[in-house]
Amino acid sequence: MLDSLTQQPPDALLALIKFYDADPRADKIDLGVGVYRTADGATPVFRAIKAAEQRLVDGQASKAYLGPEGDMGFVHALVPHVFGAAVPAEGRLDGMQTPGGTGAVRLALALAKKAGVKRVLMGTPSWPNHAQILADLGLELVAFDHSAPDGTCNMASLRAALAAAGEGDAVLLHGCCHNPTGIDYSPAQWDEIAQLVRDSGVLPVIDLAYQGLGEGMDEDAYGMRKVVSQMEEALVAYSCDKNFGLYRDRVGAFYMICKDAQATQRAVSNAAALARANWSMPPDHGGAAVRMVLEDEALTADWLAELDDMRSRIRQVRAKLAASSNAGGVDLTPYGRQQGMFAMLPVSKEQVQALREDHGIYMAASGRINVAGLTMGNIDKFVSSLAAVTG
Ligand code: LMR
Repeated sequence: MLDSLTQQPPDALLALIKFYDADPRADKIDLGVGVYRTADGATPVFRAIKAAEQRLVDGQASKAYLGPEGDMGFVHALVPHVFGAAVPAEGRLDGMQTPGGTGAVRLALALAKKAGVKRVLMGTPSWPNHAQILADLGLELVAFDHSAPDGTCNMASLRAALAAAGEGDAVLLHGCCHNPTGIDYSPAQWDEIAQLVRDSGVLPVIDLAYQGLGEGMDEDAYGMRKVVSQMEEALVAYSCDKNFGLYRDRVGAFYMICKDAQATQRAVSNAAALARANWSMPPDHGGAAVRMVLEDEALTADWLAELDDMRSRIRQVRAKLAASSNAGGVDLTPYGRQQGMFAMLPVSKEQVQALREDHGIYMAASGRINVAGLTMGNIDKFVSSLAAVTG
């Protein structure tokens, strides 16, 4: 039976990691997978996480099972940072730990399906794994255009999609730092979206994977908090993989906001059953380290300070990119207005290939770049190489 399986291509984005590592050129540039990089190109462990991990090694008394919900101390300690003053009252909010943001998205969409959702509205382009998860769950993807050619949000397309949707539909929205475009909704646009979602009766599912890497912890959560405060029901998939630098430790959380405390309890019980059937329980280590950071005022302050530095560097690189005005046929100015780690270059697959083969610059075949892979030292080479292949 296994002989009947057809060959699948490796995940295009994750495959880039190996191609890049195998390239012997000293001046190669990695703009592929979404990990933060310092001005020296490193992806270090956060200082606060290192300190928490040390305490964990010294003090952890047991590694016995916790349960499908994982470390609820971690889940609850995150709540004030994620939801701020928008925490719904009377037990309407609860959550559980998941293996990374991907686990949280998977659980959110699986729970939505169990609750009767059949179609999911989603702005495209989106993170490729979103469509993959929808397909795997047998949910229909209803695509609308996320962005307009001038590098801003295509609100008309979103409005039309929501106007044509209703009960039995969900809408999957990126909370901030849109992956892959970097094109985020403004607060005024979020205000309108929250109202439209409410009027349409669709279930909002918000993927918040980069909080703190756009404009700030509160600013990046504005849209999600607005939607949550307007709606009786919402699902939030959260990732700590980027804003705590825990990538391979897989640290995420899934939050459910329901009509009342009883409905929330029922939703949690269903999510726990889905988690048990999928991965039984999430890995503990990274979540425990985040909890220890959040339980300690000094470590929390240090985590936020390091996150501030990361955000400033990303914004600095974006400003420098925008100041270069253009590279060959590419207008670089919109990248200065966009947010977070990603941007889409208007390049063909052949141009992506030429950048890789002729210039040692690695990016997704879609033209997405990880802006954090650029530094004050390599940005000029990037701009001139882009000009060479597009000019
Ligand atoms: C990315 O988009 O590069 C990251 O979210 C990593 C991943 O899992 O795809």
